[in-house]
Amino acid sequence: MKHKLDQLQKEFESVLSRVTDRAALEALKNAFLGRKGKLKLLLKEVASLADEERKTIGAIANEVKEAFEVAYGKKERELGTRESGEQREREWMDITEPGRAPREGHLHLTSQAMEEITAIFSRIGFESVRAPEIDWDYYVFESLNMPADHPARDDWETFFVDLPESKKGKMVLTPHTSNSQVRLMEQVKPPIRMININRTYRRQMDITHIPMFHQFEGLLIDKGVAVTHLKGVLDYFALAFFGGGRKTRLRPHHFRFTEPSFEVDISCGVCGGNESGACRLCKGGWLELGGAGMVHPRVLEAGGVDPSVYSGFAFGWGVERTLMMREGIKIDDIRILYKNDLRFVTQF
Ligand code: DAH
Repeated sequence: MKHKLDQLQKEFESVLSRVTDRAALEALKNAFLGRKGKLKLLLKEVASLADEERKTIGAIANEVKEAFEVAYGKKERELGTRESGEQREREWMDITEPGRAPREGHLHLTSQAMEEITAIFSRIGFESVRAPEIDWDYYVFESLNMPADHPARDDWETFFVDLPESKKGKMVLTPHTSNSQVRLMEQVKPPIRMININRTYRRQMDITHIPMFHQFEGLLIDKGVAVTHLKGVLDYFALAFFGGGRKTRLRPHHFRFTEPSFEVDISCGVCGGNESGACRLCKGGWLELGGAGMVHPRVLEAGGVDPSVYSGFAFGWGVERTLMMREGIKIDDIRILYKNDLRFVTQF
């Protein structure tokens, strides 16, 4: 019996010496000290010995058991110290090291411009409204004095939506923001002073056109509104957005929904408005910004506004175009705006 105990102790020690992690230590505990462990089995045998022998062997067996427990405890502490040392090594950090700031995004150049344009017009009382981006033919063309089949519609290379027609015609992806005009007149009585900025769509794509772009539409209706008021508002905007020293000019044009109609030019920021044609950007001193005019009486009527009492002006420009004409931003292909190339967008 004593021999068996000695054997067991040797075996325990040799297994223990090879233990290097908690799993092995746990296995060792079960194998030797557990309920069905080797020591328990031996102790059972001790119980069946004759009295005298049981006392001496029992005492030895208890010593062995204690020795096992002590050795086990010591190993457990050793492993604990090693593990926390390793953890400390792993989780060590230099709290004096300068932090790494997370990369922060910002609004896209176009969104920035839209916010700025909204703010500029809000300072002179233009309220920001939003007309649908997909709208009925009626608001996009018909009510703007462009009856069905009128050739002027061809200027707007429109995407039609494949949906059943209603009394207001087909649904279209708005090719301009002018659909906001009659929509707003239906909702509010004059005086009206609104700005509508939205996405617009046309079937065209080259270095100066993109199928999805943005426009801003201004509309002012009141008693006694004249072209001079329009010019004043445009000059105010040009000064606020482009800075001092830039001039605007109205050039006669034709739109079905305004009479008279104009195209609005701004003096070139690169050459300062040199009309000799020497400037490669403007070739004559002026850059075209967008359309404007006095709201056509038929459009007022379509919106339920009496043209013998009220008059108004409207203007509609491309956001991207306006943005690109700002001094300092030299974009030679409009499509770069929406390529999501970080090298480009993070510059602004
Ligand atoms: N809707 C026109 C376009 O997209 C621009 C325009 C011209 C808007 C004259 C107006 C306006 O409000 O009065 O080309």
